[in-house]
Amino acid sequence: MGGFAAKDKVYVVQTNRIVIERCLLMTTDPGDLVLDPTCGSGTTAYVAEQWGRRWITIDTSRVALALARTRLMAAKYPYYLLAGSAEGRKKEAALSGAKLEASSGKQPEGDIRKGFVYKRVPHITLKSIANNPDIREGMTREEIDEAIARHANTEYLYDQPYQLSKTVRVCGPFTVESLSPHRVLAPADENMDGYVSQRRRRRARISRI
Ligand SMILES: C[S@@+](CC[C@H](N)C(=O)[O-])C[C@H]1O[C@@H](n2cnc3c(N)ncnc32)[C@H](O)[C@@H]1O
Repeated sequence: MGGFAAKDKVYVVQTNRIVIERCLLMTTDPGDLVLDPTCGSGTTAYVAEQWGRRWITIDTSRVALALARTRLMAAKYPYYLLAGSAEGRKKEAALSGAKLEASSGKQPEGDIRKGFVYKRVPHITLKSIANNPDIREGMTREEIDEAIARHANTEYLYDQPYQLSKTVRVCGPFTVESLSPHRVLAPADENMDGYVSQRRRRRARISRI
């Protein structure tokens, strides 16, 4: 992983993308909303966008926001196979050996909240071998392997969805909002709303002298 700092940095304190990716995949699902109040160069938003999470990010620095905006607008991502798409359902059925289910029509086609179609591996434990009802004395090695595979649990590799190799994704639409023009609040502005009456402003000036 090589530490928290990124290698090819556009921002001096840029975080390693792999670190953010790991945290994001462990704690969120596709369609979730991710908030990073210290945007910097936008690594969290960049990674969230890649993995189908919605995102909001904030920074006090206009430099950081400009960098993040450019980074996101120039981003090119792999296109992951959506579990809620017709092609995704077909792939899922082929992988699990289950019957292909028709779309219920209740949820929009390609709903991101259904996630992606993930690669998977059999998860074999000693317990599952010991309790395997199909393994009997006198079986050949191949027969035992087949029996183990039949009863093994499946582990989903959530960081390895199937990709559509010929399709590239770009960042979805987003807005950048800022206080414009960048106002300096007067000390007498108790409401922090940028408006100070003439009298209060004079009084504030006098009390500072
Ligand atoms: C360590 S950097 C974040 C780096 C980011 N993870 C990346 O990969 O680029 C921290 C950022 O927080 C911003 N920041 C510091 N204090 C803040 C505050 N009170 N509100 C919002 N942003 C703040 C800084 O301007 C800086 O860009």
